[in-house]
Amino acid sequence: MKKKLIITGASGFLGYHLLRMASADWDVYGITHSKGFDFKSAAAINCDIRNYIELGNFIDDIEPDAVIHAAAISDANFCEQNKELSNDVNIEATKNLAGICCDFKIPFSFTSTDLVFDGKQGMYKEDDAKNSLSVYGEQKSIAEEEVLRIYPEATLLRLPLMFGAQEASATNYLQKFIRQLKKEEEVYLFNDEYRSVCGARSIADGILKLINNTGIIHLAGKEKLSRYEFGLKAAKAFGLDESLLLSSSQKNVKMAAPRPADVSLDISKALSFGFAPFSVDEELKLIATHKYF
Ligand SMILES: NC(=O)c1ccc[n+]([C@@H]2O[C@H](COP(=O)([O-])OP(=O)(O)OC[C@H]3O[C@@H](n4cnc5c(N)ncnc54)[C@H](OP(=O)(O)O)[C@@H]3O)[C@@H](O)[C@H]2O)c1
Repeated sequence: MKKKLIITGASGFLGYHLLRMASADWDVYGITHSKGFDFKSAAAINCDIRNYIELGNFIDDIEPDAVIHAAAISDANFCEQNKELSNDVNIEATKNLAGICCDFKIPFSFTSTDLVFDGKQGMYKEDDAKNSLSVYGEQKSIAEEEVLRIYPEATLLRLPLMFGAQEASATNYLQKFIRQLKKEEEVYLFNDEYRSVCGARSIADGILKLINNTGIIHLAGKEKLSRYEFGLKAAKAFGLDESLLLSSSQKNVKMAAPRPADVSLDISKALSFGFAPFSVDEELKLIATHKYF
């Protein structure tokens, strides 16, 4: 019999990848909220994770062998303008879930972000000082500390900017980008915003591999790329016109949530635990040739 895994945020972008990567080895229960998901090999559970009682009852009924917490309000600009709501989901619900998992001694993986750093240094290691620039980054940073305080054996995964499959229920910036290039529209991409960009398939695989680890682990790609450099790779993989990509500076664009310049992550620790991400080119090729899942 397969072990049972609960994934929160199952209707989200990372959830889409986690459901598909996990279902071969686990009986998967995916928690959704306002949307559903179209994946028959996992059971869908509708629950607002801010409802502590309902969440606890589901976990009590299912008796999972592990919980991956990928639900969040992940839109940094939305968090900037909706602090109370995003606080309730990103911090309070995360604390409650960590507490429930601690009480039942269920391995708990929390998905955090590279945006807990200010981007002045780059290639951050797990114990480097945090200093988030945005409300979203700050909420995730507080949630990290609360999770480790409540449940020190939890696994805390800091993730990078991800790209992935082009499904209606799992949107990410790659889809919009490809649509624009197909319509022969020019696309401005920052040449001064660096990330350890990684495909979400590799990240989902890594999260599942490290499910029984503890402490903070950086899970990201091996390459540090600007958004412009990533755009060139994506255009090439999809056979689209690279000359439509225009290199620009983030200094010229005003955004609700400030964005750090370089939050690339040192992933030596994850690699030593067996994390083996595809390169950006390899994962883009899998998506472009429909060999992703
Ligand atoms: N995407 C990235 O590049 C990236 C980078 C770094 C870190 N991360 C982290 O990775 C995790 C997943 O991100 P994502 O990109 O997959 O986010 P996403 O696509 O925005 O999905 C968010 C998920 O959270 C769920 N959710 C939100 N509020 C909820 C509530 N009150 N109750 C229950 N579920 C709720 C949503 O459910 P409904 O849609 O059904 O409402 C959705 O399934 C997050 O922890 C995020 O901080 C993501």
